[in-house]
Amino acid sequence: MAAPPLARLGMSTSRFLRDHWQKRPLLVRGALPSFEDPLSAEELAGLACEDGVESRIVTRTRTRYDVRYGPHEEHTFLSLPEARWTLLVQEVNRHVPGAADLLDAFSFIPNVRVDDVMVSYAAPGGGVGPHIDSYDVFLVQGQGRRRWRYGATATGDVALVEGAPLRILRRFSPDHDEILEAGDMLYLPPGVAHEGTADTACLTYSVGFRAPNLAEMYMDLSDALCDLPAGAALYRDPQLAPQHNPGLVSPAARARVRSMIRGLALSDAEIDRWYARFATRLKPGHEIPRPARAPRWPAILRRLERGDVVVRSEEGRFAYLDEPRIYLYVGGEELPCHRAALPMIELVCSARRLGAADLLRASKAVAARELLVRLFTLGALSFVR
Ligand code: SIN
Ligand code: CO
Repeated sequence: MAAPPLARLGMSTSRFLRDHWQKRPLLVRGALPSFEDPLSAEELAGLACEDGVESRIVTRTRTRYDVRYGPHEEHTFLSLPEARWTLLVQEVNRHVPGAADLLDAFSFIPNVRVDDVMVSYAAPGGGVGPHIDSYDVFLVQGQGRRRWRYGATATGDVALVEGAPLRILRRFSPDHDEILEAGDMLYLPPGVAHEGTADTACLTYSVGFRAPNLAEMYMDLSDALCDLPAGAALYRDPQLAPQHNPGLVSPAARARVRSMIRGLALSDAEIDRWYARFATRLKPGHEIPRPARAPRWPAILRRLERGDVVVRSEEGRFAYLDEPRIYLYVGGEELPCHRAALPMIELVCSARRLGAADLLRASKAVAARELLVRLFTLGALSFVR
């Protein structure tokens, strides 16, 4: 089956995953034919003035780039030149529901891989220069036109311009040169050199993915291991033997430590559960705001019967494990569930906006209703006002 952004090409999701995902770029003209910008350039600039919103303004001249990090002041925008600058705002999906909705067009990629929707506005000639990213990205063109020059595969030449405030490639020899218009989309795997330059003033939506590296995973896993009961993991040496020098780490001590470390062998289920918590966790400083008053099932039911739509919080990812036991993970929190709640779990993991009829259908089992109430109580779900 073709996912919406691939339908124009008649390309199945399987073919995209086999031939392009993490391998080769793909340009899809008219990928989202009815795409409408969920925000204006002015609204984007307004967001970039708010505390807690990560943004950058990049200006370029023939010889150099300058970067200013947000939050910005309104007057900064008034003092920018007519051309050759761009504003980039991270995680717009957290602030603009229409930007979050864009992520659902990419639900053929697992939730735990999703990072954010970054939105950039560029004046003509604006851009951040030739560079590589370490993550997969779908670049969806909004209003205006942007020229993308990019490689056919990941580049081996990753040398950077020294002293630049951005990671700019020293050498860049693109294989493709295309102008994208509203609704067009370019997929780029990690490591492909690319440069986007505004042909006219334009908005571009970067649907970005993330992939953890082993060091991050080890760090998080070691934090999780710290939750072991202290007594269970205490180094003990009741047979301590005299040694000729107190400085020596004796063979017996080494053997003891090796067996402690090797004794950490985690079961598959323990690793899976740790990973699902890790992969759905909140970013530092983020939280899912809880409602002042937790709704009960009868109140939820009343609103569902009225046809009210439910929306997922953008703060935490939703994912689940379905064997050997069932757990739903939201924002790093593990919710053990009864198997009867599986249709509800599958529904809430499948989309950001949930229709009342679908929720009612998935609420037949008591366990499903209890889960729904729990998700409202956590603030993970709420009614669209
Ligand atoms: C942009 O939107 O200007 C930059 C996106 C990118 O190249 O990663
Ligand atoms: Co990039």
